[in-house]
Amino acid sequence: MFQHVAPFAGDHIVSLNEAFQRDTRPHKVNLSIGIYADENARLPTLDAVHQAELRLATARMAKPYLPMEGATNFRSAVQTLLFGARHEAVASGRVVTIQTVGSSGGLKAGAEFLRRWFAFSGVWISDPSWDNHRSLFESSRITVHTYPYYDPAGGVCFDAMLECLRTLPPRSVVLLHACCHNPTGADLSTAQWITLITMIQERQLLPFLDMAYQGFGDGVDTDAFAVRALARAGVPFLIANSFSKSMGLYGERCGALSVVCTDAQQAEHVLGQLKFTVRQSYFSPPAHGGQIVAQVLGDPLLRLSWESDLNTMRDRIRAMRVRLHAALSQRMPDADFSFLLRQRGMFSYTGLQPSQVDHLRDAHAIYLVHSGRICIPGLNANNVDAVADAICATLLL
Ligand SMILES: Cc1ncc(COP(=O)(O)O)c(C=O)c1O
Repeated sequence: MFQHVAPFAGDHIVSLNEAFQRDTRPHKVNLSIGIYADENARLPTLDAVHQAELRLATARMAKPYLPMEGATNFRSAVQTLLFGARHEAVASGRVVTIQTVGSSGGLKAGAEFLRRWFAFSGVWISDPSWDNHRSLFESSRITVHTYPYYDPAGGVCFDAMLECLRTLPPRSVVLLHACCHNPTGADLSTAQWITLITMIQERQLLPFLDMAYQGFGDGVDTDAFAVRALARAGVPFLIANSFSKSMGLYGERCGALSVVCTDAQQAEHVLGQLKFTVRQSYFSPPAHGGQIVAQVLGDPLLRLSWESDLNTMRDRIRAMRVRLHAALSQRMPDADFSFLLRQRGMFSYTGLQPSQVDHLRDAHAIYLVHSGRICIPGLNANNVDAVADAICATLLL
């Protein structure tokens, strides 16, 4: 029956992570997978998350199915987190939110919804983008194109990006990273977002935002600038957001998809069709992660504790950027590593070539993605100098 089934090539980053686990060299360093590690190279459990879980356990809550759209307290907490308290778009009922299986599930539900209800010629993603964007949309039979994004000097080639997007047919879908671009770490400035939003309105494009790293750039509210500015400008759009990184809930698979509509009646219909999309696939989302999020965001003390832990994670990432930049600049004073300081969030594009990436892994037990992306939280005080030594030795080969 299954003789014809082709082997699956695997996910490059997951395979790398597995190879790292098998590597027996004691000095190995994992800069590949996008998971936050603390100073001791461990994934922390945030205190607010632990407290929320204790409360849930004590309450001995039964575990019925959630509605297709997810739990009401979670959905409303997500809207406040994304749009801020008392945003007109939420207050007027024109935003709908469903709880999804990670933000991957949110992107997928959004893709399915668009395929069914939106006549468009394809989705445009940044070049480069998170690897899975392409396959999530292509598997929903949506054509995927790219727009220029990354400038090898370490930032965004904004003029080329605008020039490309300006030529798209009206109703084209444009996938945008709301903050902490994966894989490059290069983000738009506030002024560039404002210019882009005006162009999106003029050209009648439909933005699909992906916000997997809220809080890792400058803070929970600052990182939501694009979301709130689009809503304020009256642009209809979709946004998938994640709690994997921001609350350390990776394996709980907890995210959301929100759609900002023109009015409350449209929103009601859109919500109905999103529920139908979910019903056709997994019927209803898992409950536990969403209840942790609802507890943390709904209790002022837990929320404070969460934001404080988030600040600690962000500050540690920034400190490691500064340490790596200093260590590399000291070893190679003529080279420019300032991109490390300008890029934001968990990732940095180093410009290392695939052969150099292979060499770092084989000769120095340092694992990074073939594109040259490094996951900064994999660095700590114990390994940053050795990583700088190895990168410089590799660059000078
Ligand atoms: C840009 C981007 N979007 C979406 C996701 C998926 O996150 P989740 O764990 O919520 O499915 C990731 C995960 O790495 C990501 O980097």
